[in-house]
Amino acid sequence: MASRMAGSLRLLLWLLLLWPQLGADPGDAVTPPSARGPPSPKSETLMEEATQKPEVLPRGCGQRRIIGGQPAPERKWPWQVSLQVRGRHVCGGSLISSWWVMTAAHCILDIVDYTVKLGDTHLKHEAPGAVAVPVKDIVVHQKFTRIGGLYNDIALVLLSFPVKYTTHIQPVCLPTNALQLAAGTQCWVTGWGKTREDDKPENEPTELQEADVNIVEYRSCNKILKKALKAIQNPVDKGGLCAYVDGKDSCQGDSGGPLVCEFNNTWVQVGIVSWGIGCARKGIPGVYSNVGFYKDWIVRVLSRSTRWDTAGLLISRLCLLLLLASW
Ligand code: ARG
Repeated sequence: MASRMAGSLRLLLWLLLLWPQLGADPGDAVTPPSARGPPSPKSETLMEEATQKPEVLPRGCGQRRIIGGQPAPERKWPWQVSLQVRGRHVCGGSLISSWWVMTAAHCILDIVDYTVKLGDTHLKHEAPGAVAVPVKDIVVHQKFTRIGGLYNDIALVLLSFPVKYTTHIQPVCLPTNALQLAAGTQCWVTGWGKTREDDKPENEPTELQEADVNIVEYRSCNKILKKALKAIQNPVDKGGLCAYVDGKDSCQGDSGGPLVCEFNNTWVQVGIVSWGIGCARKGIPGVYSNVGFYKDWIVRVLSRSTRWDTAGLLISRLCLLLLLASW
């Protein structure tokens, strides 16, 4: 009797103290240590506030894990993912934590079963370290709209299980909301989208492509696009940013993919491929969702899921406790 009591007590103690450490937490995601904007008193305060909150984003993000030399192409963009439906690439995306992938809202078409393919630069062959993870949940920005353009074009994809980081699978860093991107900053966009505007979708490349493009301030971008579209409304708002370089651009099939810039050896995702007028047309920039603008929303979604997880864990533990007590 006494030993049975001691056994139950030990089990109880184990459940109460040790169990939380055993469960993986979808809220393990992070902000880069170095991905802050140009130092200004304002951004310092924002950083401080951010560090006081529980961290939902990963610490060692934005690293290529290459020691010296040039990274092998398959290790160059380890956060790039392909969002797929029945084995077919539909959009790009980026890994922001072991549980979460970021993409464009317009990529989420319907209630279909999505899979995320990670750790591979080739769409057709399976690299040894590649993994395909089913999607558990998708959070589309509540203000996403296609009316008069694409606005709030951002979605977060929760994986069914967390991925293990490897040399081929790494999370990208997110900027602070205070990050001020100077016009002309050189950044990179990656994806499996069309390499020419008039290419047929079946001619999309199977190898991951990259292009360096320069940041265009959204107001000047607005002017160009408004004129080109003969629009009354501003085609790009503060939630958008543009990038342009003569002859290079993202294109159909690249949507949802990352636009990243390197700051102090850390790669930070500043944009999500959203839309454009054709592809790589002279003088016409490509439009991206401005990740920094949505940083608070992203952190809120990620920490909300953590809270629900913790609540679920507590409830299940309480049930077990009651069961043990009645036993
Ligand atoms: N909307 C396209 C997609 O779904 C992306 C187009 C980007 N276009 C551009 N010119 N940058 O894949």
